[in-house]
Amino acid sequence: MQITRLELRNFRNHRHTTLNLAPGVNVLVGANAQGKTNLLEAIYLACVGRGWRTSRDREMVQFGADSAWVNVTAQKRCGTVEIAIHLGTGQKKAIAVNGIPISKVAELMGQINCVFFSPDELKMVKEAPADRRRFLNIDLSQLDKTYFYALTRYNKILAERNAYLKTNGDPRELAIWDEQLVKVGDIIIAKRRAFLNQLTPLIIAQHHALTGGQENLTVQYETVQNFAKNLAAARARDQQLRTTTVGPHRDDLAIKINGQDVRLYGSQGQQRTVALSIKLAELTLFTKLTGETPILLLDDVFSELDSNRQARLLTTIAAAQTVITATEAPAVGEIFTIHHGQVVSPAPVS
Ligand SMILES: Nc1ncnc2c1ncn2[C@@H]1O[C@H](COP(=O)(O)OP(=O)(O)OP(=O)(O)O)[C@@H](O)[C@H]1O
Ligand SMILES: [Mg+2]
Repeated sequence: MQITRLELRNFRNHRHTTLNLAPGVNVLVGANAQGKTNLLEAIYLACVGRGWRTSRDREMVQFGADSAWVNVTAQKRCGTVEIAIHLGTGQKKAIAVNGIPISKVAELMGQINCVFFSPDELKMVKEAPADRRRFLNIDLSQLDKTYFYALTRYNKILAERNAYLKTNGDPRELAIWDEQLVKVGDIIIAKRRAFLNQLTPLIIAQHHALTGGQENLTVQYETVQNFAKNLAAARARDQQLRTTTVGPHRDDLAIKINGQDVRLYGSQGQQRTVALSIKLAELTLFTKLTGETPILLLDDVFSELDSNRQARLLTTIAAAQTVITATEAPAVGEIFTIHHGQVVSPAPVS
């Protein structure tokens, strides 16, 4: 899969930017705060229907403007796909695929797939479980619409159950929500498990290659066993705490190197290598499952990797169209210079 054209209007600091991307490596070069990451975010938005740095659409609309739009054209094996997204400050976003409006973000999922990698992605290894769930949710939503529907439904029921818990109502009433919550929750758990069963061996293989087999990495899915039973058993406690304490919204991944939790004991370099292994594994798995290589978005990663890992990254990603941001131009790819929210070289296209 390959993005051929990207056009933005009033998107963050880009008033009007058009980019014709090359098939291989594309590098967005410029000083800090010129709008390089904003361009990656626009691509991300066209892939998953939300911003990369924010879930609030209005933050992506240029200061002082009423609306923004992003238009992305991609070439897939089955033909061309054109995504248009309109973000208004006061209204819901509008999305069209090949000129046809869609009513649900789920219908956007899987049209153009991307894997985003930035130094921030370290959070996934280093920080709270929510960051690891977010990674699972974004990947699975791109690969499987039914997952996205189940997740949306789960979050809605969960919010209702939590609201009820705050009213101090009759605990027997909880059964109404519990049955629905378990129904979609079990789908989420099963899909996460199946996804991780496929992804984990690929992560371990990448990690083995990056570290020369020096370290033993394990990735374990941690979830609630027998959700229905445990949810029922937790009713009294949930009522006391006024929140739902068991379910896939509490899932986590235990990532260990030589048996030790990498989150607590891993060095910065070890954490970074795990994050990179996960991203490269995602790329491989997406390609295998969809028959299309996703677009790889790399934000500021070269500054973070030593030369061996940079070289390894470049060989692994050779098959993917890649958009990289950097403050200095590396000696690869098609270079675009970004300055003040504009592409200043090559000369702007229209
Ligand atoms: N809604 C918005 N409207 C206008 N400008 C915005 C908006 N949101 C962010 N910006 C501006 O975009 C700029 C940052 O752009 P971006 O993050 O793409 O920079 P960058 O080129 O990636 O820089 P760095 O090299 O530091 O990562 C900031 O100056 C910020 O003020
Ligand atoms: Mg940036």
